[in-house]
Amino acid sequence: MNIIEVKNYDEMSLKAAEYIINRVKNNLNLNLGLATGGTPKGVYNKLIEDHQQNHTSYKQVKTFNLDEYIGLSKEDSNSYHHYMNENLFQHLNILNENTHIPSGLNDDNEAECRKYESLIIEAGGIDLQILGIGANGHIGFNEPGTSFHSKTHVVDLAQSTRKANARFFHSLDEVPTQAITMGIQTIYQSKEILLLASGKSKQDAMVKLLSGEITEEFPASILNNHPKALIIADEEALFRVKEISIF
Ligand code: PGA
Repeated sequence: MNIIEVKNYDEMSLKAAEYIINRVKNNLNLNLGLATGGTPKGVYNKLIEDHQQNHTSYKQVKTFNLDEYIGLSKEDSNSYHHYMNENLFQHLNILNENTHIPSGLNDDNEAECRKYESLIIEAGGIDLQILGIGANGHIGFNEPGTSFHSKTHVVDLAQSTRKANARFFHSLDEVPTQAITMGIQTIYQSKEILLLASGKSKQDAMVKLLSGEITEEFPASILNNHPKALIIADEEALFRVKEISIF
């Protein structure tokens, strides 16, 4: 796992955007895995700026998002469908039919999981997956204890995750209790992974990730084995790692 340290959130966003743009330019048919949450918003802003200024084209790019809350419609302002449209898709020349996010409203969630997994395989797999990291080490919504062999599946969200995400809702009660997420194996099979971390709330997660111990109790730890994983993290996120000199 390689690691690039940057000064702050803005620099992390810029570096990550440059990395993605480079991949898009080199592979017009890129299959790009996307994340939601606070971390990648700045990256998406930079991708939009670049698209407006330099006309980088997303016409043949396919995207696959990590996850979606169960029980929220696509139109719900807290759904990840809504997040992606607002924060990225509607500002690029990406085709609607080329953007993929699991549906959170299904009669049969298990069937939706199987369908999503097949979609990724039929597209030829993900070339570059963007990841944030939860304070508990989750990637996507794969909470501690999830099998490293998991494929797209239904998860019960950890209370800590619901609390962390409650800032986007009116109250904790409104935060859904379940989600559909790509599994850890699904994520791991991406040809390349770019994990982003910024700020104090990620300090402990960075220590655990970079300690080198690989355990299902800390889902992101599997990335230590990935042949092409890069972390871009800012000084604040890496503060404790450097304090105890593991980086
Ligand atoms: P955040 O979430 O980007 O909002 O910090 C990351 C995550 O929970 O994976």
